[in-house]
Amino acid sequence: MAQLIDGKALSKKIQLQIKQEVARLKFKPGLAVVLVGEDPASQVYVNSKEKACQAVGFYSQKIVLDKNITQEKLLTVIKKLNKDPKIHGILVQLPLPKHLNEKIVIDNINPEKDVDVFHPYNVGELLLMKYLPKLDELLAPCTPKGIMRMIQEYKIDVAGKKVVVIGRSNLVGKPIALMLLASNATVEICHSRTHDLEKTCAQADIIIAAIGQANFVNKSMVKKGTVVIDVGINRTKEGLVGDVNFKEVENIASYITPVPGGVGPMTIASLLENTLLLAKKHQ
Ligand code: GUN
Repeated sequence: MAQLIDGKALSKKIQLQIKQEVARLKFKPGLAVVLVGEDPASQVYVNSKEKACQAVGFYSQKIVLDKNITQEKLLTVIKKLNKDPKIHGILVQLPLPKHLNEKIVIDNINPEKDVDVFHPYNVGELLLMKYLPKLDELLAPCTPKGIMRMIQEYKIDVAGKKVVVIGRSNLVGKPIALMLLASNATVEICHSRTHDLEKTCAQADIIIAAIGQANFVNKSMVKKGTVVIDVGINRTKEGLVGDVNFKEVENIASYITPVPGGVGPMTIASLLENTLLLAKKHQ
């Protein structure tokens, strides 16, 4: 039976450390979260981000904008936040409504306040990274940073290991591949168009499932002793499920993350860490 990687407990531990550090600071780190429209999943995420900020003593500002807002008006909001000295991190919740251009919106966030690490300047820094620094000092996208934190906490050695990342998104697949590469792993990025995906996965020492399909990774894709990290959050009739068929895989894997309670809470912990890191750089 695989050992469970408890993201919820680790996230709580990190949040407590952040709270203690914030109490010693002479200023309040500030995070602005911008939500456009009423997507129910995004509303849940944004609310939990705001709650987490308040719990550790950050200044937090939630800005909810009408789903029909023009690109120009949204950029005006962002430019105002770029100049606001109380705000150290700006997060625009994705996805945005179809009429808005996500790339232009992200490009207009001041890279020094880019808490999601989506701005091309910061993504470029990540690409150029040769060795993974201490995570406390690294500005990296929240979900991949949370995954690396779990891997380190459970003392899982990635150097020289074959890691298969399923999914090539800018949010997770690409950045986690870069971070693992900088940790000396041998990384293969697979996706919906990959041939022989099953065979490739079955050779992996570590699988990062970030494809957004419920129960996608099954027992025929996992060899004995594989570490399985499940990034998926899929709403199904049976409730919230990951990209991994947990019941099938838990007996084969050496370590596995649950859904919920695995990667999800770690994303929040990383968001707080990134906000603190940016706030300390500003001061
Ligand atoms: N939508 C889903 N995950 C994320 C995230 O980490 N950041 C932002 N801004 N939007 C998201």
